[in-house]
Amino acid sequence: MGIATATEQSPPKPNPKRLSGMAGFPVNDRLLRTCRRQPVDRTPIWLMRQAGRYMAEYRRLREKHTILEIIKTPELAVEVTLQPINAFDLDAAIIFADILPPLEAMGLSLDFIRGEGPVIHNPLRIAADVAALSVPDPRERLGFTLEAIRLVRRELASRVPLIGFSGAPFTLASYAIEGGATRNFVLTKSLMYNQPEMWHELMDKLAAMVGDYLKAQAEAGAQVLQLFDSWAGALGPADYCRYVLPYSRRVIQTATTSGVPVIHFGTGTSGMLEAIKKAGADVIGVDWRVDLADAWCRLGDDVAIQGNLDPVALFAPLHMLEKHVASILAQANGRPGHIFNLGHGILPQTPVEHVAALVYMVHEQSTA
Ligand code: CP3
Repeated sequence: MGIATATEQSPPKPNPKRLSGMAGFPVNDRLLRTCRRQPVDRTPIWLMRQAGRYMAEYRRLREKHTILEIIKTPELAVEVTLQPINAFDLDAAIIFADILPPLEAMGLSLDFIRGEGPVIHNPLRIAADVAALSVPDPRERLGFTLEAIRLVRRELASRVPLIGFSGAPFTLASYAIEGGATRNFVLTKSLMYNQPEMWHELMDKLAAMVGDYLKAQAEAGAQVLQLFDSWAGALGPADYCRYVLPYSRRVIQTATTSGVPVIHFGTGTSGMLEAIKKAGADVIGVDWRVDLADAWCRLGDDVAIQGNLDPVALFAPLHMLEKHVASILAQANGRPGHIFNLGHGILPQTPVEHVAALVYMVHEQSTA
């Protein structure tokens, strides 16, 4: 009386978030199946930059730490990686890192300046600068991200798969040469046209570094790899084929030796999808400037596709957002191999309730 006996006590409630993936609980393998164009019960969704400033939890941590501190402290990187997974019903986690620390590992001096974005203090100017770049072992110089991958895998216990990533050679070259963001890529393209030997030496080093880095991420436990060539669309298709494609292809070849599927993302690439396909990824990411059905028609049914909601559609009223979702799913038309995502990274001002609504809508509307 009064004191409950062991048999009367209700058993401890299992925490489904922690237990899923263990014996008896389903593993969420929608993303992995979709990368291989296998059928799934509903369209998987994750969001580029899903961990970030639109979340209060992230902003709170950023009050105490710089972005580089978070990236270089595995426990903090793990915490931030899991923030969106705990907040929304997403189908994948992406390791919290950035595309630019590999440039730091190669010998460039990197800073993130509030309100301005990334800055390279010693951008590449002359041939000797490229010759001086090292191609270090990512296991030594980027071990913090590899360790974060190992820790996240343990924490996730197969709840959702983990995506590793790297910047692609062209996008990294543009930061290394311009020293930061650029509107017209004048320095990058000038170097490409005027000093082709220097260009090819730089791209060669970047491709070696990026390929090995992706492979190391797969070895550490990343189950999908995304290559971000965010600015590839700044080039015309002929220049892309001549100056960039061979290097991206080499990176993807190296990365896929690990047996892990590769997503190849770019923006403004609607004029060169056929060329991008030649780089050999399993999944091609497209932005909202192209109709998803048209893109798929041109790419053919032997690749999967990721995209392509305009990140600003998340600022629309929910009934309108719902129509955007319906339109993208209608363009995908139930074909196996569609990963729902934004066409570019989520914006810091995005209303967080609309993110939750988007994930719900995609799952609801795509349920078979
Ligand atoms: O997707 C994720 O949640 C993983 C984390 C991630 C970040 N950057 C964290 C980040 C990923 C995948 C990236 C990729 C990245 N970084 C790209 C490729 C994707 C794209 O958006 O095109 C590029 C070009 C960068 C370079 C970069 N990093 C820029 C231009 C900036 C500043 C712009 C901005 O949004 O402030 C960053 C900083 C950065 N990287 C932030 C985050 C969450 C914001 C920094 C902050 O907390 O102050």
